[in-house]
Amino acid sequence: MTAEPVSPTSPAPGATDRPAVRVALLGCGVVGSEVVRLLTTQASDLAARVGAPLELVGVAVRDVDAPRDPVVDRALLTADAEALVAKADVVVEVVGGIEPARGLLLRAIEHGAAVVTANKALLAEDGPTLYQAADAAAVDLYFEAAVAGAIPLVRPVRESLTGDRVHRVLGIVNGTTNYVLDRMATDGLELADAVAEAQALGYAEADPTADVEGFDAAAKAAILASLAFHTRVSIDDVDRQGIMQITADDVAWAARTGHVIKLLAIADRRTGEDGAEGVQVRVHPALVPLSHPLAGVRGAFNAVFVEADAAGELMFYGRGAGGAPTASAVLGDVVSAARHRVHGGRGPAESWYAALPVLPAESARTRYQVRLDVDDRPGVLAHVSAVLAEHGVSIEAVRQTPADAPAEPAVEADDAPGVARLVITTHEAPEAALAATVAAIRDLDAVREVVSVLRVEGA
Ligand code: HSE
Repeated sequence: MTAEPVSPTSPAPGATDRPAVRVALLGCGVVGSEVVRLLTTQASDLAARVGAPLELVGVAVRDVDAPRDPVVDRALLTADAEALVAKADVVVEVVGGIEPARGLLLRAIEHGAAVVTANKALLAEDGPTLYQAADAAAVDLYFEAAVAGAIPLVRPVRESLTGDRVHRVLGIVNGTTNYVLDRMATDGLELADAVAEAQALGYAEADPTADVEGFDAAAKAAILASLAFHTRVSIDDVDRQGIMQITADDVAWAARTGHVIKLLAIADRRTGEDGAEGVQVRVHPALVPLSHPLAGVRGAFNAVFVEADAAGELMFYGRGAGGAPTASAVLGDVVSAARHRVHGGRGPAESWYAALPVLPAESARTRYQVRLDVDDRPGVLAHVSAVLAEHGVSIEAVRQTPADAPAEPAVEADDAPGVARLVITTHEAPEAALAATVAAIRDLDAVREVVSVLRVEGA
């Protein structure tokens, strides 16, 4: 018997004969509208890939009368999210925040629906509750869009690398702060002006706290660390520092020393003081050498390095935010969950068997660049380097700039003669040793000011 030829654009055989997979959408902002657009415009391709049509059965919103993208059929809008989740096979949540998102997702799972969420805050705060509920109900829980928008990252770490041993995840996972730091580096803007520009362009929220204070990046770091190290890591385990202290002067000095400042999320597998393995997770601004690929990540883009024993270094790059890029990640999850509805099977459950302890921030080891203004007289450098030596911190390089050097705002402001700026770069040292060193340097008579202390990463 000869098989009927199948057009590459026609639905898979039998796709339209099967009952539709019912999709409910919770939230219809920038991402939700793009989810609706993809579900609508790609309907026949999605049906072919799933093996059954996807039917959008409703869109839950707070205000059904608010103006919306015309792609959204107003007849689908409802304010009754509880009723909507009860009649869906796949529930997509793009509301954000802890409640009512958590309650609605749990309700959806109770009803036997698979869930797809972009909610990094909820997963980083209370992921295990959702995982356990999904496990008990034997349904899928997918969240590719929760970390780094369009970039396939959750699935590679959760599935593709599950045969390997990841030892480090390092990256730029917040587009807003990357845009702000990039504008500071490119045009010498002060932080407040760059944030205002990011707000005007729609990158930063009216309240930019979650981005500029590093909460958004910390949530993503916690999720990535949990997946990479098969361990439960919550946002409270992440040592977090945002970009609010970064000045135009810091950014200019970074360039002078061959670096650029980036807000990095870093998750490391480390050996603690007791010799046992643990994980250390942090988010902070850091100097990245211009030669490192992360230094070339411009504007609102994201990029993440994953280092694994067998795979070596992998880099993932792309758009980490925005309606359409995030919707792309959501739809990938919807197709996966819907395929399971049609053909059986289940996506991966939570894997936290390793249960590694989360190590304190002080256990991290990094390189540092310390900038300080000192009296420009004999013996001062020797005093400063003696303090580093006493604390076991090894110097990699020292650069001294005369007080009258051009393009040096901090020194120009201080027109007293005999002031020099020292820029000291250290070899890798424990955080605790560096903190003690900086405190001791501050106490030296010849030290006028410790202008900044920044970690150096990616060297
Ligand atoms: N506000 C985030 C960012 C996008 O700027 O990357 C959503 O996580």
